[in-house]
Amino acid sequence: MAELLAGLGTSHVPSIAAALDKGLRDSDEWKPFFDGYVPAQDWVAGHKPDIAVVIFNDHGNSFFLDRVPTLALGVADEYRPADEGWGPRPVPNFIGAADFAWHLADRMVEGHFDPLICRELDVDHGMQVPMELVFGRPDAWPVKVVPILVNTIQYPIPTPQRMWDLGRLLREAIASYPTDEKILVMGTGGLSHQLQGARAGFINPQADREWIAKIGADPARYRAMSREDYVEEFGSEGAELIMWLVMRGCMDADVRTLHQHYFAPASMTGAGMVLLENMR
Ligand code: DHB
Ligand code: FE
Repeated sequence: MAELLAGLGTSHVPSIAAALDKGLRDSDEWKPFFDGYVPAQDWVAGHKPDIAVVIFNDHGNSFFLDRVPTLALGVADEYRPADEGWGPRPVPNFIGAADFAWHLADRMVEGHFDPLICRELDVDHGMQVPMELVFGRPDAWPVKVVPILVNTIQYPIPTPQRMWDLGRLLREAIASYPTDEKILVMGTGGLSHQLQGARAGFINPQADREWIAKIGADPARYRAMSREDYVEEFGSEGAELIMWLVMRGCMDADVRTLHQHYFAPASMTGAGMVLLENMR
């Protein structure tokens, strides 16, 4: 039986990637942000996951507004970094955990989730940035990946409760997978930000800090909130946070927070992470 090693929630802001590309990791502006991830990086490196399931949204790079799947699942052997307008970034290709992905595809359909099944997919900053924040910039990624893509771009986006339920299904899929592989589940996006409209530039550090503090021990409120509540509290793009609920929903009721970090503003967002472990 495969094992859920830990759940990790993190921002996926593209300017984080740009900072790394420009060698600004240790600049006055960025160092406090990146340093906050080091304890979680060390913990993950020490616990050696085999597979990372990464829940993220594509940002008009692999799916444009003409066709937007509410849910999509990668089952490929390999994923290339998407070209987001400046050419593909120099990060290694991601190796797919295709066997587990097909198992998950089957469990999803059996459980009445019906994803777009992707045999070929380029993955954008939504996945690249979290992988770099957790694993640094290796010559080859130390884990295989399974991308789960959620539409948080174009309304109607899925409900928070639906994301939680997908997490419950992922939990069952991990428990029923007959290998002894260790799986890290990564929910990405957020924290508060709004990139458009009258409130462009809106961030809500108080709500972000509360999210970081409560998503482990007391997530009930976040599961019950409406999509509109997310937009109100976290901004139109801050609603990406619903993807952390997949991660939280696949864990036990009782979890311990191993590491947490918050930093604002990073680009136009509140940014940060939590690393959660089931109480055993
Ligand atoms: C930006 C883009 C994102 O996808 C995101 O999650 C946060 C910020 C941006 O362009 O600043
Ligand atoms: Fe995003």
